[in-house]
Amino acid sequence: MRNKLLTPIICAAALATIGCTPANNDSPTNPTAALASVQQEITQQTKQQSLSDKYADYFLIGAAADQGSYITHAELLKTHFNSMTTENEMKFESVEPTQNHFSYEIADKMLAFAKSNDMAVRGHALVWHRQTPDWVFFNDEGELRSKDEVLAIMKNHIDNVVGHFKGTVDYWDVVNEAIMDDGSLRTDKEEADNQKSYWYGAVGKDYIAAAFRYAHAADPQAKLFYNDYYNYIPARQQAIYQLVKELLDDGVPVHGVGLQAHINTIPSSNPEHQSYHQSIDNLEKAIQMYASLGLEVQITELDVSLYIGGNKYQKSDFYTADSIPAELDQKQAQRYADLFAMLRRNRDAISSVTFWGIADDDTWLSEFDSGRADFPMLFDVNHQPKSAFHAVMDF
Ligand code: XIL
Repeated sequence: MRNKLLTPIICAAALATIGCTPANNDSPTNPTAALASVQQEITQQTKQQSLSDKYADYFLIGAAADQGSYITHAELLKTHFNSMTTENEMKFESVEPTQNHFSYEIADKMLAFAKSNDMAVRGHALVWHRQTPDWVFFNDEGELRSKDEVLAIMKNHIDNVVGHFKGTVDYWDVVNEAIMDDGSLRTDKEEADNQKSYWYGAVGKDYIAAAFRYAHAADPQAKLFYNDYYNYIPARQQAIYQLVKELLDDGVPVHGVGLQAHINTIPSSNPEHQSYHQSIDNLEKAIQMYASLGLEVQITELDVSLYIGGNKYQKSDFYTADSIPAELDQKQAQRYADLFAMLRRNRDAISSVTFWGIADDDTWLSEFDSGRADFPMLFDVNHQPKSAFHAVMDF
């Protein structure tokens, strides 16, 4: 991408400096000096074009990459990002699919790429109710394991995984998504199966503190985060605040809070829908509340969906790469602009902002069964910068 973007710049600069300036016999153009000045201009332009360079005085700019995209999107990653998260490759089911058999090959390759490009690394995620194999919670008879058994499995997992990546992973999402929308703790009694937490079911609330203590023991240098979504819902932001406050009061090693920030171009107009609360102000409030506890705050999974929460979309309403209305593209850019203006205001609290993906051709929001494609990133399906990219760079 760098080359594509630069070609017009090179031509314009070269023409201006060498080709189009009328030759003056008294002071002939020195081609070497002209070329050097073009080169310098290119270097500056390149710097200006890089998202992470532009934000160097603010916070790290990260992207979630998966085992395919860190190769297919390498140019974008190298140019615009100085932090990387593995999207799925360090989750429980990926690194310990069967008990005590650890598999690090893919994550190791991805992290070698990140390190050789001077990127920070966020490790995601040690303890989560999803993408965790059943054997963790249930014995061969299908019975829920005892508290001690599950804690021992958790400790073994964390010792092994955090130990393996010690010195490479800078930040860990230690516990992910422990709170429900109404502010209650997620339990094993939630209605939908994929909402149930058997960490809670087997261990009770103590599983959260235990995870942080095990992680800290395994790598005392790594910064440990509590990560969650929909932080703009007042009940949620309050519950997350209370949870981490209690952990800190109990001396549990928590260093930061991650806000996933999967948002939409505008909040929902339906007061019953969670995204009704999705204002920039509510997100700012959450950031400031967590920071008031002395914690580092990071945006960990940012994307801006083109679809509005709570609206019903028919298949015929689904956008394709070629059918996104210009007005919607602008709306998305405006949302990104408003969000980043707020994030910049709060740069003292925020150490990193990570996008959940790199470009529109590879986003989890297009993975759902409905087949609905979404276009939530700063780069389009051809890896070219969108209006949203320019909006984020414009300050
Ligand atoms: C998602 C991945 O992006 C998908 O590829 C996978 O199928 C499901 O998980 N919150 C999280 C992330 O903390 O781990 C999720 O990632 C997205 C929501």
